[in-house]
Amino acid sequence: MRKSVKHLLGIEQLTTTEIENIFHRASILKSERGQPNTLLTGQTWALIFSKSSTRTRVSFEVGIRELGGSVMFLNSQDIQLGRGEPIKDTARVLGRMIHGAVIRTFAQQDVVDFANFSAIPTINALTDDEHPCQILTDIFTYQEKRGSIRGKVVTFVGDAACNVPVSWIYAAAKLGFELRLAAPKNYQPDPAIIKRAGGKIHCTEDLASAVQGSDLLYTDVWISMGKEAESAQRIKELAGYQINETYIQLAKPDALVMHCLPAYRGKEISEESFEANAQTIFDQAENRLHVQKGIISWLLS
Ligand code: CP
Ligand code: NVA
Repeated sequence: MRKSVKHLLGIEQLTTTEIENIFHRASILKSERGQPNTLLTGQTWALIFSKSSTRTRVSFEVGIRELGGSVMFLNSQDIQLGRGEPIKDTARVLGRMIHGAVIRTFAQQDVVDFANFSAIPTINALTDDEHPCQILTDIFTYQEKRGSIRGKVVTFVGDAACNVPVSWIYAAAKLGFELRLAAPKNYQPDPAIIKRAGGKIHCTEDLASAVQGSDLLYTDVWISMGKEAESAQRIKELAGYQINETYIQLAKPDALVMHCLPAYRGKEISEESFEANAQTIFDQAENRLHVQKGIISWLLS
């Protein structure tokens, strides 16, 4: 019987066992980095991006090559997709030529449609709804440094309605940690998502109480890609929802501070707190490479 094609479209669709399987593969691939790997020999993968990227693009390009594959970067503006060719037609063409796709775009539905119409392994490299590769990496990094995240308290500070916190929300019940989201009312996640995710999740406007006793403090940009027109309003409304020394003092003494990057000092995190935690933050950035190789390995298993 033919194996069904696997995709990584969001944390929402992953089981706990699948997440643990990805972490296991990531950790082996990390320790074996530098040794020849033939997993993708003879394969060509495409990165199709409609938004900017440093980490995701570079880590996937390097990772696919390290697994023995070829990779092409397609800016959506440079292909007919940018002139209005439907995603389902793009998917049907590429599905006949390449072996896997990594997509960064706006609508989650576009990634879902690409997966369905291409019938090749498809990875969500960030949409407006989720950023699964990032959150898998964040949890992998936490566990490398502190052991199991089960039973721990993770506090997200800032725009709690965007893709990164939403992926954290879907991870909480699956991995058994408590998630607190500290954000102004208009930047709290859709209650329907919280209900769908289950688990121990608390939304609050009270940042000081949210960080109290946390094991991990986490933040993301106030102005996500696509929200640039709201910049002035967001800076005004999110002011104060910043990770800085005052709040770090309230967390557990061994709490980690993480940031998915890019960071805007003086907004979601202070310069001092960012630099004090740079080791963790850049270990987290490096782990994108290892975890995404783990994701590809799991997709092909
Ligand atoms: N964190 C992250 O996804 O970074 P890039 O936007 O640079 O890919
Ligand atoms: N929420 C951010 C994440 C960047 C990696 C954005 O969507 O721009």
